[in-house]
Amino acid sequence: MPRYWLRCIGCGAEYPGSARVYSCPACGDLLDIVYDMDREVSEIPWLRNFESRPLGVWRYRELLPVEDYRHVVSMNEGGTRLIRCRNLERELGIKEIYVKYEGDNPTGSFKDRGMTVGVTKAVEAGAEMTICASTGNTSSSLAAYSARAGLGCAVLVPLKRIALGKLSQALIHGAKVLAVRGNFDDCLRIVRELSRDPRFYFLNSINPFRLEGQKTAAYEIYEQLGGVVPDYLMIPIGNAGNIVAYWKGFSDLKSLDLADGLPRLMGVQAEGACPIYRAFVEGANEIRPLNNVETIATAIRIGNPVNWKRALRAVRETGGLVEAVSDEEILAAQRILASREGIFAEPAGASPIALLIRAARKGLIEHDSRVVCIVTGHGLKDPDIVLKSSRNLIEVDAEIGSILRALEIPMQGRLF
Ligand code: F0G
Repeated sequence: MPRYWLRCIGCGAEYPGSARVYSCPACGDLLDIVYDMDREVSEIPWLRNFESRPLGVWRYRELLPVEDYRHVVSMNEGGTRLIRCRNLERELGIKEIYVKYEGDNPTGSFKDRGMTVGVTKAVEAGAEMTICASTGNTSSSLAAYSARAGLGCAVLVPLKRIALGKLSQALIHGAKVLAVRGNFDDCLRIVRELSRDPRFYFLNSINPFRLEGQKTAAYEIYEQLGGVVPDYLMIPIGNAGNIVAYWKGFSDLKSLDLADGLPRLMGVQAEGACPIYRAFVEGANEIRPLNNVETIATAIRIGNPVNWKRALRAVRETGGLVEAVSDEEILAAQRILASREGIFAEPAGASPIALLIRAARKGLIEHDSRVVCIVTGHGLKDPDIVLKSSRNLIEVDAEIGSILRALEIPMQGRLF
């Protein structure tokens, strides 16, 4: 029996793990990776010996779908900090609040967890060129991992709608960066069509291998909390791959008998780009894609998310919810996280904090809860947004008097 294989989430058709398919050839739905869990459980050293491998994606290699671990394309991704936020706990009246800081990853976002697996699969498949559509972070990550693997890389991004830091990363890593006159959904439609051409290896989150890498963040949280799962997980939703990856990771812990239950998955979208939120509040079983989406959180500016079906299922089955927050709430949350806790998130990465603040104020979460917020990307990815929304610089002359005046501190007397 093979160690892992592909299974369609719609019709249940199965394919070998080596098949180069991105969606089900029979019905077109998305594919999931399944493992022979009975065999894996007995082989997982991290269950028996927690200290033997560093925290990170490849610590969990028995539950990752690669042929030969020795040939992975890796930059030691994962192993990101879980940071306790005591100031927020005090201000919001919640017992335990943590940030899982995915900005710690090699290219500054959670995408690297998926790309180490996805680009390894591209190499295994004998690909020469990778391709993706992106709101920014996927392109940075794919460009870097493709460079490391010696593969060509093409990324399609929406013209003028991608943050400066992300664009500069894709360029310096040598990707062909194509700025499309359209939005992310246009880019993804084109790339999906191109993926039928075997000259391209397709690495959007439709590719099931990427989500396998991303699920390891759930395993890490469990270990970092000392062997428990949180009560609530706050997470941004764009194309909806990451929330599905966490769902899978926490479900694995349950089926391995390591945890009793799953955290409630609390998804957050931006008000101007919230098709999954709408389906959730309407109790609908399908989303209605949105054509005109707008938000300062460009990473999640998506109107037709591909992973909506499993995302809705994840939220409903865990007793969670999906909320939509305004751009003002996102910017406020970004500032609060930076100024109270010293943690700098890009706007999409700060959106779970906006959700947390709203949920705490509305009494949606109990005071004695343990909450983990997934800060998905580093604040330096999008410096423009801070300069636009923050207080002005104070320009001073190069002499002490001018500086003290600017600080509103009298010349006389001692400061310390
Ligand atoms: N947060 C950040 C910082 C992101 O870059 C993204 C997605 C998300 C959250 C949402 O994750 O799509 O799995 O629901 N960025 C993609 C990109 C779309 O192209 O970089 P998701």
